Amino acid sequence: MEQDRLRRYGVYQIYPISFCDSDGDGKGDLKGILSKLDYLSSLGIHNLWLSPIYVSPMRDMGYDIADYYAINPIFGTMEDFATLVKEAEKRDIKIIMDLVVNHTSSDHPWFQEALKAPDSKYRDYYIFRKGENGKRPNNWTSSFGGSAWEEVEGEKGTYYLHLYGKEQPDLNWHNEEVYQEVKKILNFWMDKGVYGFRCDVISEIYKTSFEDGKKRKISEPVGAEHFIAQKGCHQILKRLRKEVIQPRHGVLIGELYGVDDKQAQEFLDGELDTLFGFEITHTKSLLRQRIRPKDFKNVLVKWQENVSCNGNYLENHDQHRSVGKYVKRGRDEIAGAKMLLTLLCALKGVPFFYQGQELALVDYNHLSEEESHDIVRKFLEELLKKYAVPPFLRHFIARKFGRDDARGPMPFSSIDGFGFTLPGRKPWQKFYDVSKERNVERGEKDPSSVLSYFRKALSLRQSDDVLSFGEISFLPSDREVLLFLRTYQGKRRVALFNLSDKRKEVPSFPEGKKDLLLSNVYPRKKEDSLLPYESRIYRIDEPFSKNG
Ligand code: GLC
Ligand code: MG
Repeated sequence: MEQDRLRRYGVYQIYPISFCDSDGDGKGDLKGILSKLDYLSSLGIHNLWLSPIYVSPMRDMGYDIADYYAINPIFGTMEDFATLVKEAEKRDIKIIMDLVVNHTSSDHPWFQEALKAPDSKYRDYYIFRKGENGKRPNNWTSSFGGSAWEEVEGEKGTYYLHLYGKEQPDLNWHNEEVYQEVKKILNFWMDKGVYGFRCDVISEIYKTSFEDGKKRKISEPVGAEHFIAQKGCHQILKRLRKEVIQPRHGVLIGELYGVDDKQAQEFLDGELDTLFGFEITHTKSLLRQRIRPKDFKNVLVKWQENVSCNGNYLENHDQHRSVGKYVKRGRDEIAGAKMLLTLLCALKGVPFFYQGQELALVDYNHLSEEESHDIVRKFLEELLKKYAVPPFLRHFIARKFGRDDARGPMPFSSIDGFGFTLPGRKPWQKFYDVSKERNVERGEKDPSSVLSYFRKALSLRQSDDVLSFGEISFLPSDREVLLFLRTYQGKRRVALFNLSDKRKEVPSFPEGKKDLLLSNVYPRKKEDSLLPYESRIYRIDEPFSKNG
């Protein structure tokens, strides 16, 4: 049932520091989110995922937690949180927290204790190992670059594991106490009315062995075969589901790093409600800014066919904005933005939307090294500096893998501060270049805006069982055109997408009378060809039947 709620309504992700700033310190906060609940509700949002709001030194923007039981003061207080949950509930909006338990912050008292007192029980909360002959314990690398081992200060030859930044030591999931701590955290937040959790890099929590990694795939850290999608990880998730989530009717959403479609499906058997993989975000685009339509199509089809309840997303706080990535900037980008939103609303699984996507926000025109806040970009700039890579190329690469472009302040209006912060105040990260033209106020006034279209597309999905719950099957079409059928209890919908910026022929449809339910371009007399990025959803009757 809970999975049904996700499938029907989808999930909207908020990046709290950049959503809405109520007190003018330039950083978004809980009261800011509270003030926008009516806006979210008017969009049709019923499930809200908040990126981390816990106490954190923010070296990885909150994905480094120093206290799982308290709200980061920049976001507000526990009272603000309680008000948010209560007010959200009134609007039938449920709150989903981010749960980061592959690692903690190095500031967390557990880790501090582990460093101070090697004999304390907290040593075993983390993964400390000795290196032999001045070498690190093994050859594993961190997803953020460099070795995954950091030498302990004052303890020569002893290292701790961090699959992300060195400020993010990995927890030891072989230790039953760690499991019990996490269980306590889940219950604590569910007692506060939280609906569930988006589990950060959950595919990596269990390390089966500490042997050297042999596989070297450029898209994966060295050692991956020892810690990605291990049996131990599945057991932990099954247990959490059984002991906490199921009895309390909550949801678990997993971020699955380094996992393919077949492995992903295994996480849906009594573990997660839905999940996201990474193939969709970087398929064959290592240095290319834009993903080619045919590659986009191939990955989409594969995950739709092999994953029963995929989390479909095109944007989040780690990715570049989707317009510019899946759709070419320029003349047709507004049609493109609408096409991508239609796609999310038409696919099987759970649609995920990221703040600002409903406005078609795009990456910054320019973002200098000094303007960046992202740990990944900073790391890469430093690294490439060491190798004397010329500045232009260095910034290009660091920005391509850096994650600042989706993390800018949300523009709500055209006035000074863009309704994100108070007039005259400086936002923590600069405003998007398009904030004046693409903000909520402008979008609300314009019936042809992406925002107005988003409302239509989402409400169509939510009111339609076929789009929410139907099976999917793909029909033959051009390699840059997507044509699929959704079927549910004898009813059918056909969805058609031109993923390219070129005109295309309309592929042949299954037989039956068609009614156009949604189109992202103005109705045209002749519908015999597809405009760039055109998308349509039809209701289609069974031949010889009258059922709609
Ligand atoms: C996830 C988060 C990302 C974070 C990383 C480490 O991928 O989405 O923002 O840096 O995990 O916690
Ligand atoms: Mg603030």
